[in-house]
Amino acid sequence: PRTIIVDTDPSPDDAVAFLMALGSPDELDLAAITTVGGNVPLHHTTRNALKALELAGHPEVPVFAGAAGPLVRPLATAEHVHGATGFEGYDLPEPKIVATPGFAPHVVIDLVMNRPPKTVTLCCLAPLTNIALALAERPEIAARLAEIVLMGGARREGGNITPAAEYNIFVDPEAAERVLACGAPITMIPLDCTHKALTSKARLAALRARGTPLAEAFFHLLSFNKLFDEGLKGTDGGPLHDPTVVAFLLRPALFSGRRVNVAVERSGEFTRGQTVVDWWGVTDRPKNVLWIDDLDADGYFELVFERLIRAERR
Ligand code: BDR
Ligand code: CA
Repeated sequence: PRTIIVDTDPSPDDAVAFLMALGSPDELDLAAITTVGGNVPLHHTTRNALKALELAGHPEVPVFAGAAGPLVRPLATAEHVHGATGFEGYDLPEPKIVATPGFAPHVVIDLVMNRPPKTVTLCCLAPLTNIALALAERPEIAARLAEIVLMGGARREGGNITPAAEYNIFVDPEAAERVLACGAPITMIPLDCTHKALTSKARLAALRARGTPLAEAFFHLLSFNKLFDEGLKGTDGGPLHDPTVVAFLLRPALFSGRRVNVAVERSGEFTRGQTVVDWWGVTDRPKNVLWIDDLDADGYFELVFERLIRAERR
């Protein structure tokens, strides 16, 4: 199996992503979960990661807390989407397991430097602060990474936190810029793709019908989570963003995209955090990203729920 590190700010879609990885032991070996301030403040994201691991019966996975906020800006949270704790909709017990001592960016550096070159993949599901801090301290980790797969950005779809920007990139555009320039192979899964992956009533009912405690918990968490997008757009369901990253590693054939240059707007009055995608190759800027803009949504949900259920240990 390939070694992955999941960098995350758990709301429920983040948790589904790393639990799916645990349900895929033949393909993926989850070496660490690193948390960052994002959807909700760092103490909540860290606690949510621990809650999800405990619920699934995986207390062995180490969780390391990282940056509380972006490189140079105050943190912009998203309680209006995820609720006060980030895990609204289902009461999970306080976790008995605790975070492992160690600062997430240093953990990333150590894991990448101590494993053979090109064997560690970063799965980034949150603002990119931890990864940017690791790259700033040890730029040589970039050349040792197998790849970076990240959820973030938007081109045709427009933004979900401002008209121009997707949340993960908006929160820490300086970090995103540093990551995009690092030279490692990068796949980005933006809103253009994830907005086609909706947690419809029928899909959530199919999850609940699995009848396990994990299925029941995520039925409720995702049911709360979808309300924001449903209210905004009148869709049946909300986007299940972050599991696309793990699904892409497991089944790249479910996705399609194009190699392009992506730059990040840092300072626009209205466009901070916008991803500027050179779709038509009108500049000489290097193609630094595989930009994913489509997926087979039914195949995706089948894979996600199958692996989520497999993660559960009783
Ligand atoms: C991103 O923001 C978070 O709310 C989701 O978990 C995802 O990582 C989508 O914009
Ligand atoms: Ca996330």
